[in-house]
Amino acid sequence: MAYLKLDHVDKTFTRGATTTEVLKDINLTIEKGEYVSIIGHSGCGKSTMLNIVAGLTTATSGGVLLEEREVNSPGPDRAVVFQNHSLLPWLTVYENVRLGVDKVFAKTKTRAERDAWTMHNLNLVQMAHAKDKRPNEISGGMKQRVGIARALAMEPKVLLLDEPFGALDALTRAHLQDSVMALHQKLGNTILMITHDVDEAVLLSDRIVMMTNGPSAHIGEVLEVALPRPRKRLELATNATYVKCRQRVLEFLYERHRFVEAA
Ligand SMILES: Nc1ncnc2c1ncn2[C@@H]1O[C@H](COP(=O)(O)OP(=O)(O)OP(=O)(O)O)[C@@H](O)[C@H]1O
Ligand SMILES: [Mg+2]
Repeated sequence: MAYLKLDHVDKTFTRGATTTEVLKDINLTIEKGEYVSIIGHSGCGKSTMLNIVAGLTTATSGGVLLEEREVNSPGPDRAVVFQNHSLLPWLTVYENVRLGVDKVFAKTKTRAERDAWTMHNLNLVQMAHAKDKRPNEISGGMKQRVGIARALAMEPKVLLLDEPFGALDALTRAHLQDSVMALHQKLGNTILMITHDVDEAVLLSDRIVMMTNGPSAHIGEVLEVALPRPRKRLELATNATYVKCRQRVLEFLYERHRFVEAA
């Protein structure tokens, strides 16, 4: 049984007299605990697709099923982490995470339990030490960590990541990728992540969904990444399966579906 299913999803945007078909007949099923990445050129409709799963945008036709129930509005069962953190600047690190915890567990956890759960999740991303700082007092990578803690703390069925490491320098990015990999290994979350980065996609994913260029973008190819976990980035660089997967994605993006700037 599919845990998450995108079923014949189409999306068109209408502005005045012009209608643009962004996504055309997207079909995808994701198993529980799977890590799936979506890769494709800028503007092809990746964020639109993720937003439809999040319930932030509605599909023009078709729909999304989570555990066989249709989703069409946002909910704590699908937590999103965006490229640019969306922390509330007037709240501390602790309060930003606690807000989500209070929203989801107001009825099921006591005040003390919610406090402990907030700290537990800050510990998972190694941010407990900065709990009293405000977002403008911490680095970009730290803000993304807090965003991830906030999402994890809501115990979502699916974690939706829209280029979560996109705004970070290469070293911080690598470090955070390793953290997310370790968290996925430990917690077994179901993750749908958008990325532009071929190495990131291969390193983290069980499957890579490659999108054709828009308009009317669709899934061109799905690649299985048959690398055992836990994965170590340094060892993978020379691993034959890794190199082959990487090559396949590069070929798809830069030969078969080269980026063409829309007129
Ligand atoms: N609210 C909207 N109204 C009209 N058009 C939109 C809207 N949101 C997105 N689009 C259009 O839909 C297309 C896909 O946008 P989307 O943000 O999903 O792309 P993307 O693949 O995430 O790109 P990037 O990699 O640059 O983030 C673009 O052509 C964009 O202009
Ligand atoms: Mg996007």
